[in-house]
Amino acid sequence: MIDISQRMNNMEPSATLALSSKVAQMKRQKKNIIAFNLGEPDFNTPENIIEKGIEALNEGITKYTPAEGALYLREAISHKLLVENHINYMPCDILVTNGAKQALFNAIMAICNKGDEILVPTPCWVSYIEMIKLAGGVPKLIPMNEKDGFSLDVSKIESAITNKTKALIINSPNNPTGAVYNKDQLERLGHLAVTNNFLIISDEIYEKLIYEDYEHISISSLSQEIKNHTLTVNGVSKTYAMTGWRIGYAAGPSDIIKAMVNLQSHTTSNANSPSQYASVEALTNTKAYVVSMREEFGRRRNYMVNRLNDMEGITCISPKGAFYAFPNVEYYFGKRINNHIIKTPKDLAEVILMEGQIAVVPGEAFYAPNNLRISYSNSIENISMGMDKMERVLKKLV
Ligand SMILES: Cc1ncc(COP(=O)(O)O)c(C=O)c1O
Repeated sequence: MIDISQRMNNMEPSATLALSSKVAQMKRQKKNIIAFNLGEPDFNTPENIIEKGIEALNEGITKYTPAEGALYLREAISHKLLVENHINYMPCDILVTNGAKQALFNAIMAICNKGDEILVPTPCWVSYIEMIKLAGGVPKLIPMNEKDGFSLDVSKIESAITNKTKALIINSPNNPTGAVYNKDQLERLGHLAVTNNFLIISDEIYEKLIYEDYEHISISSLSQEIKNHTLTVNGVSKTYAMTGWRIGYAAGPSDIIKAMVNLQSHTTSNANSPSQYASVEALTNTKAYVVSMREEFGRRRNYMVNRLNDMEGITCISPKGAFYAFPNVEYYFGKRINNHIIKTPKDLAEVILMEGQIAVVPGEAFYAPNNLRISYSNSIENISMGMDKMERVLKKLV
């Protein structure tokens, strides 16, 4: 028997993937599950992007590109960052990756020495923590307050800084909370990074999925000094319904990008070349599509949040961005069903799945001990049916 490495033994299994395989198993048993656990748009990739993908295959764009990505895509990303985010990055300061996930992993590997601390406001996307651990770093979790809508509390970040702080990961709009950070918060955070000399890794993957009058601000656009201390990460997965195409990117200080390219050149090489070609179309020719997707998500958000707040004991903040409701379900802890006591979001999610055939993600997966994540990336009909079923299950808890 070959031992599994210490490194892998230290890694938590993905709670969201475990749930997905349970849901798949129940579907195989012909159970009609409503999947509110998904972290991807339920829309199809726009037709014009698909056509470009086919064109790439027909034109022989099927070979390696440079590890850092095809120049035409890095030029399109550079233009997008300038026009939409007001940040001036040259193509040579941009790396194209296999999804934003790889950009984040490469970044953490590129900067983190053993024992370096990386600050992460929570609730947060679970992969950040496992990536930091893999790189030998120490994740320092900083819980944000639900009563403030999980908004960024910069004073809490300031108190967590030590001489080992190497970086901070922010994610606005946020998965799972829907929080969107404002200019004042970002300026104060940027000031902390400059004065304490750490890197801000800014995961902006949900930037276009934002509601009402809330505005996405790229922290790197706030000043040259802040830009020098920021790595901007983004990708095409969520905005253009392209999760399976696997294109992400990072833009930032040259030495960090260079180290990330070096790592990528020895691990996965370039991101897939037909997807790189099609992603130029995504970045340049999809304005109307993005507007209509956002409007539809906005309708679903309002409907789901109202339904949740109407359920006994549940409180749900209206998310400012992304596509998840994140209700507080503490009220149900201590209640029972069939002699089974609910103690955690995981227990409750299990009951909702088994009794109501609704898949939701327990908050533990995001370091949130009192919440469930319920994706509204689903049709209004399914959301309506799912909310009815969830309400019926909750009424059975005594
Ligand atoms: C907050 C956050 N960052 C990054 C990613 C990775 O996206 P991708 O690798 O598909 O670009 C996800 C996907 O779920 C996410 O929710």
